[in-house]
This record gives sequence, C-alpha cells and structure tokens, in this order.
Amino acid sequence: MLLADDSMKNNPARLGVLISGRGSNLQSIIDAVKAGTLQATIAVVISNRAEAAGLLRAREAGIEAVHVSPRGYSDRNAYDQAMADLLRDRSVDLVCLAGFMRLVGDPLINAFPNRILNIHPSLLPAFSGLEAQRQALEHGVRVSGATVHLVTTELDGGPIVIQSAVPVMDEDTVDSLAARILVEEHRIYPEAIRLVLDGGWRLEGRRFVRVSPTRAGA
Ligand code: GRF
Repeated sequence: MLLADDSMKNNPARLGVLISGRGSNLQSIIDAVKAGTLQATIAVVISNRAEAAGLLRAREAGIEAVHVSPRGYSDRNAYDQAMADLLRDRSVDLVCLAGFMRLVGDPLINAFPNRILNIHPSLLPAFSGLEAQRQALEHGVRVSGATVHLVTTELDGGPIVIQSAVPVMDEDTVDSLAARILVEEHRIYPEAIRLVLDGGWRLEGRRFVRVSPTRAGA
C-alpha cells in the first residue's frame, strides 16, 4: 500500500504543465486556478514544440512558458532529465501532462514519483496510444470518455484517478466524438488535480483509493 505523502511542499501547490499543441486542457487548468476552484499556482508551462498554441495561452495568463526542443539533447533520457531539472528548479509539486505527445521516461518519473498526471481521451484501458477517439469510433463502442491517471512507464497505463463517460452516437465523426469527450476532459482534469493535491488517497496495487476521514482515522 502506498500512502499519499507530504511531498506537496508548497501551499498553494505548484504545478508544471507539459504540452505539445492547442492547450485547451491547459486553459481549463488556468481557468480553474483563476476562478479559485483549484487552489494551486501554475509555476511553468513547457512544450516540446515551439509552435504549440498553448505557450501563447500561458503567456497571456502571465505564466512562464518555455519551449524545450528535444533536438538539443542526445537521447530521450537526457531530454527527460532536463525537463525534470527545469521542473524542480521551479519547485514544482505536481506535473500535469496536457496533450504532451511524448513518452515520459524514468528520469522524469523518478523525479516525481506518483506526482505526474496525464489526461487521455478514452476510457482506459481501452484505446490507449494515438487517435483514441478514432479507435473508439472504428471499434464501434457505444460509450467512450476521458481518463485522468497517474503516469508510470507503461503507456497510458498508470492508476486511474477519474473517468467520465460519454455516449457514442450513430452519426458521430471523429471530430464530433472528440468534441464531446473534450468537454469532459476540461471538467475532470482540474477536478483530478484537486483530488491528488488534497492528499486523501492511497494506492492499493494499481487502484487509486480515496480515503474518507472516518476510514483514515479508523
Ligand atoms: C486531448 O484530447 C488530450 O486528452 C490528449 O491530447 C489532447 C490535447 O488537447 N492527450 P489540448 O492540447 O489540451 O487542447
């Protein structure tokens, strides 16, 4: 059993958000922080792509936004180590992958054990990897959705924090299904961050279990 520990040292907690593109999930986190429904500070936003629109969203919100190009590094480990160093340098407590289109390796995972979240546009473990909405549509499932999970070395495979389901309609296209799922993504990501930061949870095997005050005190 693993208990959520006290490694969230800052109050409010400091988030590092990793992106590769549009940044609509980043925006939902920015909005939740601004609205006061998420007690946290976004310390830094990092993109592996210079053209990521999310970098502009961050700058518009007055958040430090950095492009770290993988080209500057000899291999994936060196890149991940540089990311870990940058995040630690900003005293980040929790790392949020928000459309970050790279596999995260050991240097980053070991620097933030059980402190990295990812959002994926399917009900995991179904349809991991790329183009999850297309996979769901082509498979013919009647229900799909969004998942926020802790990141491990297994692709889209860590303990699940929150999921939300949406129906798949006969007339759906990849775009219409993606749009319906995105609404849920924007709702559950800030909620999952809040939950993880609150600390009332533990891991039992691969299960993320919330600890109610009565159970915790029992
Ligand atoms: C989202 O669908 C997310 O679930 C997936 O990549 C997409 C990123 O979108 N991992 P955005 O950049 O947050 O708008």
